[in-house]
Amino acid sequence: MLETGDPRVVRTWSRAARTGGRRVGFVPTMGFLHEGHLRLVDVAHSHANAVAMSIFVNPLQFGPTEDFARYLRDIPRDRTMALERGVECLFVPEGKDIYRREAVVRVSPGSLAGHLCGPFRPGHFEGVLTVVAKLFHIVEPDVAVFGRKDAQQAALVRRMVADLDFPVEIVVVPTVREADGLALSSRNAGLSADERRSALALSRGLDAAHEAFRRGERDGTAIVNAVAGVVRKEPAANVEYIEAVDPETLGPVAAVSEATLVALAVRVGKTRLIDNVILGQGLAGDERLGERG
Ligand code: PAF
Repeated sequence: MLETGDPRVVRTWSRAARTGGRRVGFVPTMGFLHEGHLRLVDVAHSHANAVAMSIFVNPLQFGPTEDFARYLRDIPRDRTMALERGVECLFVPEGKDIYRREAVVRVSPGSLAGHLCGPFRPGHFEGVLTVVAKLFHIVEPDVAVFGRKDAQQAALVRRMVADLDFPVEIVVVPTVREADGLALSSRNAGLSADERRSALALSRGLDAAHEAFRRGERDGTAIVNAVAGVVRKEPAANVEYIEAVDPETLGPVAAVSEATLVALAVRVGKTRLIDNVILGQGLAGDERLGERG
């Protein structure tokens, strides 16, 4: 496995792979890898024959009171996991490798940041799109793979690629969950045992939304209330938002359909957790650890 922090080395690797007739797949991450990231690598392998991963905790997407400094990092462990899963090029830049000078121009998410996490994390999606655009220019992938747990991020990246004509295919992969339903996230490591139990309220709430939909409920507010009824029973869970939205515009919908995305953000202790479900699929559409054949 090639490991480097130098963007020029990554671009040389990528161009050589493509000159050799290979398709380049790319999985951008902030490290502290878990099975969810590794599933993205597996999917990248199924769409490409040379896979690159980046590990970069992007300061531009953290607000001044957010957990940039506390964000968990473990490069030696990540390196082993990436290698075992067949990553061929591991790009591990430092801040100075990505932001070589004061960044003036950034990628604006427009109206898509006006919903869900956007109002609670001002500047976050601008930071995400700016770094993803830079990473795409460095890696020059044919295909890039994102997780649906970060559904708003995935929708925004798709939209950036379409609106700004990036020559890259975006693949979005269902969320990977623990056997009890908790969506995998690097931030779960910050939960105490009690907080982890409380965090199950998110997936239980989303299950309630799916169940209500299955029974015939089509009113957006009623679906949101079904989630809230479950989550608000958990005293340690502080709801930031629960919304039923159109998966592309991310705007709230009055009447839900199979494609509607129900998403929520909840604080449990100091940890901010997000999760979502597509109503027509339910959590059964996601992968559970221990259930792969
Ligand atoms: O999802 C993440 O880990 C990050 O937001 C990303 C896409 C790597 C950009 O920093």
